[in-house]
Amino acid sequence: MLIRRLATWVALGVAALLVLGSLVPAAELQGGSPSDVLLDLGPYFFNPSIVRHRGVYLSTARTAHMKRIDRTNWWFNEAYICMSTSSTFKSVSCRKFDPWQGRFQECLWGNERKVADVDTQGVEDPKLFVWPGKGVYAVFGRKPEALGASPYCKDPIFVQFVVQVVAEEPGGEWSIPRPTELKPGVFAEQLYKRDGKRHAEPIKEKNWMPFVWQEQLMMVHSVFPHRVFRVNSSGIAVQQFVTSSPDLFAPYKDEDIHGGPPLVFVPAAASNTGQAYYLGVFHFFQTFGEGINKVKVYHHYAYRVEAAPPFRVCGVSSEIQLVTRKRSADKQASGWTHQRIWKDTSQTAYISGLFLDGATLHMSYGSSDIDARLLSMSVADMEALFAGSSWDCSGAQVLDSGSGEPLPEGLLAGGAAGGPQQLSAAGRSGGFGGGVARRTEYHRMHRHRRSHHRDHKNMLRLAH
Ligand SMILES: *[C@@H]1O[C@H](CO)[C@@H](O)[C@H](O)[C@H]1NC(C)=O
Repeated sequence: MLIRRLATWVALGVAALLVLGSLVPAAELQGGSPSDVLLDLGPYFFNPSIVRHRGVYLSTARTAHMKRIDRTNWWFNEAYICMSTSSTFKSVSCRKFDPWQGRFQECLWGNERKVADVDTQGVEDPKLFVWPGKGVYAVFGRKPEALGASPYCKDPIFVQFVVQVVAEEPGGEWSIPRPTELKPGVFAEQLYKRDGKRHAEPIKEKNWMPFVWQEQLMMVHSVFPHRVFRVNSSGIAVQQFVTSSPDLFAPYKDEDIHGGPPLVFVPAAASNTGQAYYLGVFHFFQTFGEGINKVKVYHHYAYRVEAAPPFRVCGVSSEIQLVTRKRSADKQASGWTHQRIWKDTSQTAYISGLFLDGATLHMSYGSSDIDARLLSMSVADMEALFAGSSWDCSGAQVLDSGSGEPLPEGLLAGGAAGGPQQLSAAGRSGGFGGGVARRTEYHRMHRHRRSHHRDHKNMLRLAH
């Protein structure tokens, strides 16, 4: 069997496709590298997230539309999962992505005294990643379930979930067919610590960026500082690595930096750097104009992370060029009013998928909150975006070298099969979770209070 078990709710019923899929070679770029194409997944589907698993391309996507009900502007979100034998999804079969199958009562924003100006419903931005040997998983966002007597959300008011979508083996610790909420665990206290002024602002957890390291599920919680959680199969962060690379992020220091798609592992053999690393993507946006002339302009960058703790950032690319729709050219297009909340989103883009398909990197992205697009490029072209920034992690400060539960036995002592061993002495500074390291960390945290504030702010903003 190619795919032994699709989670029942995602049983797509396209067995023929799976057989076909086994004949499909890794993507070959048509029209050279890079190529940027529109994906026809479905009407107004945006924020795609493409992976390839056992010869079949899978993508999630979402739709959203807005409706004013009483005094609240409601966002109604729908999520989908689609399959195809081609990376550009020329023929495609989609169905709803609803791991709860409708049985989920979301809490409400607002409170007893005041209804919310804005509220939201449904699954947002599911992002797929492949866990080799285990299957395909999705990370996505949603409001928490309404529990207890109150229909209103308690902090955080928006949370992240992980769910297994395709299981290669039945059973096992990471067989999680039901959505599991991701939580910062013992690290919540330092993350959610609030000063008086921000007290009223609720917390929205967004854009946790998964990657698999040594059979451990890791999640990038923030990019700057680079906070990486190790998460257990209950979805709880049990260990964290925090580093900061002020030099690399200096050009963006005044922006609210948000994460995005899963990180992908680039093996040394595929890289011109001679280094294995994880590749991630971050973005920020700038807002221009007021009222109906307001425009949000999104900027995306790739970044490289060393492939072992403490996961220092070792390079930031130049800006990734994405295609957005221009409203002026589309004034008559019927889609706009159906989908849009902002008056003009001509510069909105969001890279929601990242996948290494042989030697081709697929960056799937939402364009103007209305289109799904795929930017594909060779690893060489992607690495060319880092021109002028050679592999250099030395500027990274290690703020937390692994506090929390220590890594499982044997993970660091030469057992890093498949993982790179090029960690410099600096990268190991402080050891892992030792008392001395923690003391040092405290002082460093103190010194870098500013960046932590920014980190905090990131969580409060709706990234997208
Ligand atoms: C994950 O960690 C939390 C917090 O330490 C713990 O309560 C839970 O039992 C753990 N889950 C697993 C599967 O180990």
